[in-house]
Amino acid sequence: MGEAPSFHEMWRDLAPVGRDTRTRGYRRFAWTPADAECRAWFRAQAEARGLTYEVDRNGNQWAWAGDPTAGDAVVTGSHLDSVPDGGAFDGPLGVVSAFAALDELRRRGAVPTRPLALVNFGDEEGARFGLACVGSRLAAGQLTVEAAHRLRDGDGISLPQAMEAAGYDPDAIGPDPERLARIGAFVELHVEQGRALDLSGDAVGIASAIWPHGRWRFDFAGEANHAGTTRLVDRRDPMLTYAETVLAARREAQLAGAVATFGKISCEPNGVNAIPSLVRGWLDSRAADQTTLDTVVTAVERAARERAERDGVDLTVVRESFTPVVEFEHALRDELAKILGGHTPVLGTGAGHDAGILSGTVPTAMLFVRNPTGVSHSPAEFAGEDDCVAGVLALADVLEGLACR
Ligand code: GLV
Ligand code: MN
Ligand code: MN
Ligand code: MN
Repeated sequence: MGEAPSFHEMWRDLAPVGRDTRTRGYRRFAWTPADAECRAWFRAQAEARGLTYEVDRNGNQWAWAGDPTAGDAVVTGSHLDSVPDGGAFDGPLGVVSAFAALDELRRRGAVPTRPLALVNFGDEEGARFGLACVGSRLAAGQLTVEAAHRLRDGDGISLPQAMEAAGYDPDAIGPDPERLARIGAFVELHVEQGRALDLSGDAVGIASAIWPHGRWRFDFAGEANHAGTTRLVDRRDPMLTYAETVLAARREAQLAGAVATFGKISCEPNGVNAIPSLVRGWLDSRAADQTTLDTVVTAVERAARERAERDGVDLTVVRESFTPVVEFEHALRDELAKILGGHTPVLGTGAGHDAGILSGTVPTAMLFVRNPTGVSHSPAEFAGEDDCVAGVLALADVLEGLACR
């Protein structure tokens, strides 16, 4: 075993994988060739360090220092997949930092008294099959096998078909309580997806909570007809209903102090000179508490139904996913604060994470690294080199504090 690749080398090797040459954004979708390259990278990093490599029944990758079966393990990691045209940091920063932190522990000569493991959770963003955190949800039993088998991508390819095409056994998927029971603490490092740390002048922060959030699909069905010959009064135009619904979402979110986004739509037949027959829009909405979120989504749906009635459009609303509020475990959070020093800011987030899914089963915490652009899910997402180093050192301190006493 030679010298382990440095942070810089790991980052450089991962940088071209799944990158769109035009937008410079990443397209690393679950079970695609770009995802396979990321997975091969993870495996190579594990092997370069002499770690015990395994893939669990749900396709999540693990790299163990110490006995995987001993229990009370301290685990760190994140995900390598991306949203369409995602940034370089959301996900990969947590995985690369995990390897670098382990290297730092070894450099320090710290001797773990608990097993340490690194993880890459599969399909965190849900960019392909519409549901986020598929790997961790399956493991935690928050997604049933039947529901997972029903997931389909935009081309009609099912999750099992995609897994099989990538060389994984889709019949193996399901809850993994025995594996999760062997984890004593999970700490996910993540680039911040806002500007709180930039404003407070801190390189690293600790997560307090994740807002409840969900995805709702709105199907507006109207009538296709000629754009030139159909009088306005004779139209059943679902695009119009959709447009009014987008405005309602903005209005209701603003009223409630929440957020609501229609970031993905599809239109049939999608012809410039045809009134659409079907417009499908996906609402992503999040709020600090469940009641507020319910209020927003109910109000948006009511506004959409009223407008649909006026437009002669049929509306179907399907809740595709929902994640309740996550309050990270106070004891572990306090321990992190003690290890990193009382000055470390504690902040909440509107972004979803595997850590949020696992927190129902495993003591879980998160570290955030400053993102001076405040932008995420876009190529503009950023973290400076010094802050990345600060993140690695903080994670190493945490792993040492938790696992090396
Ligand atoms: C995933 O990053 C999400 O919060 O949507
Ligand atoms: Mn993300
Ligand atoms: Mn992420
Ligand atoms: Mn996420």
